[in-house]
Amino acid sequence: MQEKRFSRAIVRRPCRAMTQGITSAPELGKPDHALACRQHDAYLAALERCGLEVTVLPPDEQYPDSCFIEDPALVTRCGAILTNPGAASRNGEKAAVLAALQRFFPAESIAKIEPPATLDGGDVMMVGDDFYVGCSARSNAAGIQRLSEILAGWGLRCHAVPMAEMLHLKTGVSYLEAGRMLVAGEFVTQPLFAQFQRIPVPAEEAYAANSLWINGTVLVPAGYPATARAVAAAGYDLIQLEMSEFRKLDGGLSCLSLRF
Ligand code: GLY
Repeated sequence: MQEKRFSRAIVRRPCRAMTQGITSAPELGKPDHALACRQHDAYLAALERCGLEVTVLPPDEQYPDSCFIEDPALVTRCGAILTNPGAASRNGEKAAVLAALQRFFPAESIAKIEPPATLDGGDVMMVGDDFYVGCSARSNAAGIQRLSEILAGWGLRCHAVPMAEMLHLKTGVSYLEAGRMLVAGEFVTQPLFAQFQRIPVPAEEAYAANSLWINGTVLVPAGYPATARAVAAAGYDLIQLEMSEFRKLDGGLSCLSLRF
């Protein structure tokens, strides 16, 4: 394991109602809740293996997509931000996430994005003190403007990334620290990322572009051998995790936790 940046994570257990979650890929079928729970158990164990103390929130049957806890919040080294998720069926997830954040951050260190501004945490990629935010269908111009103001108040920088094809920014790009990133699809040629060493993910493995660096180890979804080889060749320790049930809801490895 290399450097340690994160010491904690918050996750939320998948709920039975996840079968009603939002998906762009109904052809993959409905998620199997029991299998999703086993995959989530393995994910938790991987976070712990990477040195994180994990807070586990109970399932919330009101919100089918609530295991994707990355979207209602963003945590920076200066404070936390409660986002205002852009999908109507997910917006209410933020109440329980606020309560969880309050265990770790004083009120003055929690900023909020309020309607009509919307933002999903899955659209925000942290690169040191620079935050790249995808102009997706979930994060509107007002949300990106508000994020930029909050970050500027903390001395952090925000860069808007145009995008047209993917659900979230981090659906197609993952920062692996040390100036390296995995990129897929529309982000392979994105000029804003030209300064980084980009590891292209082949189109047939695009799902694996959402991999997750934690303290020197990279979590990669199982079943994407070219991506796993490329990450290993770049010198990282790897943990491969089965993600089939979350993929059915367009969810990836980063979506399942808040790390700080
Ligand atoms: N199913 C995850 C999302 O659409 O946000």
